[in-house]
Formats: sequence, C-alpha cells, structure tokens
Amino acid sequence: MVVSEPALPRLEALDVDNRRVFVRVDFNVPITKSGLVRDDTRIRAALPTLRLLRDRDAKLILASHLGRPKGPDPRLSLEPVAARLAELLDTEVRLPDEVVGDGVRKLVLDTRAGQVILLENLRFHPGETKNDPAFAAALAALADIYVNDAFGASHRAHASVVGVPGLLHERAPGLLLRAEIEALRRVVHDPERPFAAIVGGAKVSDKLPVLHALVDRLVAGDRLLIGGAMANTFLAASGMAIGASLHEPDQFSACVNLLARARARDVRIQLPVDVRVGASVQADHARVVPAGPEAHGLADNELALDIGPHTAAAFARAIADARTVFWNGPMGLFENPAFAEGTLDLARAVAECPGFTVVGGGDSVAAVQESGVAEHINHISTGGGAALEMIEGKILPGVAALYPSEPRGA
Ligand code: 3PG
Repeated sequence: MVVSEPALPRLEALDVDNRRVFVRVDFNVPITKSGLVRDDTRIRAALPTLRLLRDRDAKLILASHLGRPKGPDPRLSLEPVAARLAELLDTEVRLPDEVVGDGVRKLVLDTRAGQVILLENLRFHPGETKNDPAFAAALAALADIYVNDAFGASHRAHASVVGVPGLLHERAPGLLLRAEIEALRRVVHDPERPFAAIVGGAKVSDKLPVLHALVDRLVAGDRLLIGGAMANTFLAASGMAIGASLHEPDQFSACVNLLARARARDVRIQLPVDVRVGASVQADHARVVPAGPEAHGLADNELALDIGPHTAAAFARAIADARTVFWNGPMGLFENPAFAEGTLDLARAVAECPGFTVVGGGDSVAAVQESGVAEHINHISTGGGAALEMIEGKILPGVAALYPSEPRGA
C-alpha cells in the first residue's frame, strides 16, 4: 500500500505524569553463550524515549521480543537485557518471570513514577505473533498510554505492535521510531537525485520485492548497485560460470526480467565486474576473478565470496556524486576477514558521500561500525526488514496503528 500520510501524534504532547506507559521496544539483541548482551545498540537507541518519559514521571512498562521462541525458553529470557538496561538507565529494572498474569498486574500496581518494568519475552506467549485479541487486551490492561519505539519490529502485525495500540487511544511513536520514519521517508519520497541504492545479502529471492520497488522508483541518472551472494544469481543468469557459489537457479528469469525492466526505464544497474573467490567459506585467502557474461568464470569447486577491487572502485564512483544513498546488505562473507574488504570499502565510500546517507540491516550496520565510519552516516537504522518494507513504499502496520484513524490508502 502506497499512501500519503497524515502527521503522526507526538510523544511530547502526551500527558504521562504519574501514568502507566506501555513502551514497545525492540530489544531483540544478540546474547552471548554466557548470557551477556553482545551488542547493545538497540537498547541505547531507545534511551532518549525512556529518559524523556522518566523525566516526565511516567511509570514505564517496557515490552520486547527476543529471538523466535515457540514458547517459554530460559535461553531467550530478557534477563541479560534488563541487566544492561539497568546499567544504561542507572536505575532498577524489574523483570517479572512471565509476560502477563497476576504477578505482572501486582508489579504494575506497585510501580511508582519513574520506575521501570520490563515484561518477559513477548514471544513466550503464543498470542503475540498471532495478534490474539485476548493477549492484546491483557497487555493493554496494564497501561493507560501506548508508545511504539520498536522500529525493527514495526513491520510485524503482532499483538504488542498493532493489537495494544488499537485498545489504548493515547498513543504516539517514540523518538527512535520518529527518527527512523523521517529518515526513511526522505529516501522514499522524492529523494534528492542522483539516488544510489545498494542492495547486498545472500538470497535474491528475499530481496526481489525491494529490487522491483527500487527499479520502479529510480529515474535516469540514478543507480542500483547489487553485490553479495545475491549478485551470483544475476551473474549465473548472464551465462557466467560461478562454480560452487551460492546462487538460486529458480530466480534466473526474475533476474533477467529485473534487468530488462531497469533498461526500459533507463535505470543503471551495476553488478560486480570482479569477485573474490575462495575454496570454501573458511578459506583464509582470496583470488580475484573477473566477472560478467564475457568472463572466463570460476572453477567448479570455487566460491565467489566477496566483490573484487574493481567492483568496489566502480561502486565507490557511483556513490561519490549521489545526493541520496540507501544501503542494505553486505557485499560478501563479511564475517571472514579474507572476504570482508568489499563490504568495508563500501562502508567507507558511503561515509565519504556528501549526500544524505542511510544504512539499514544488521550486517551493513556492523560493517559501518567496524570500519569506524558510523559517525559519518546520516542515519543508521535499527531495523533491517522494517527499513526494506518502507523502501518498498509500504506503511508499516506498527506505524499505521499509531494514527488517530487509518491513514488514507492508495
Ligand atoms: C529484527 O531483529 O529484525 C526484529 O527484531 C524483528 O525480528 P523478527 O524478524 O524475529 O520478527
């Protein structure tokens, strides 16, 4: 659904003084085997909203999912998250051992202004992902006001994302969600051109909707750069021998159609002109091989695991004079240092671009951080799937649920 959107309510306009505020956060963060938060970016990103609400004497009831449990699973308890949040907020964070129930209700009744409760992992309850009305009602009964600061989960029509705001009429996006929406709308609606979109990652089948949406939105002079293992499918579809590289033969015709659609619209798609190959994903050194329909290609047992230096240079040139850049997905097997260079080069090229730059998706964000250029990116999104759905032009269900009435659709 592509829509023209009315203004969202503002967090600052809510009267939260001494009232119970349910804040949906996305604390779906990596946890180490020893039970510690490995990357607290998403927790830190919610702090401005949480601090504003505490400064205004709200009673905070926070809720998040962690992982994809099928029921209660102690390995996916939010305990490590509560501990890290308590350190960051410098206050006690109380974690009941259930999501809803008598214990939680009692804890909420005992909560005073400024205090913080974090409910246990929402996905321990089967009603969350099903948007079960009874579960949504039980969550809503805990609070007077609803705030969504979980951008990364706002593409999920789950109980805590769409059910609860349907029941609590005082509601608003948190500061993080607002910043995410503003940055991505700037990319989606009338971006300054030339616009360079960079899409990487493993599977082209996962990214086809966004690739089509981008091709339809780009105009002559814009560019779409495709890297990562998903580029292998395009290369193989063009007739290049790609050895044992990850690729999806059932997507060949989809790739050919996308390239034809781009040509018809005079939109430039850039594919790798060389790749770094290895004998296995554990390989500790790379061989650079030319890529493209005329290229000799890879040996049967070789794998293309990163873009090559000529591709990185061509992508950097395509980014250098762009006025808007959006990047999602790594250019290669970034976790292996022998195949990380393409992704790190790209991170540096995006950071050097003087235009408006947005990066989303776990691996691309990690690359930006690892290459030490994060502060030169205009907006680093906390959501991968959610950001892609916005790029596709969709209104996220979690955002639609915050409007006073349904947004006008088209
Ligand atoms: C994410 O990490 O992308 C979000 O938290 C959404 O998680 P999900 O894909 O398990 O719904």
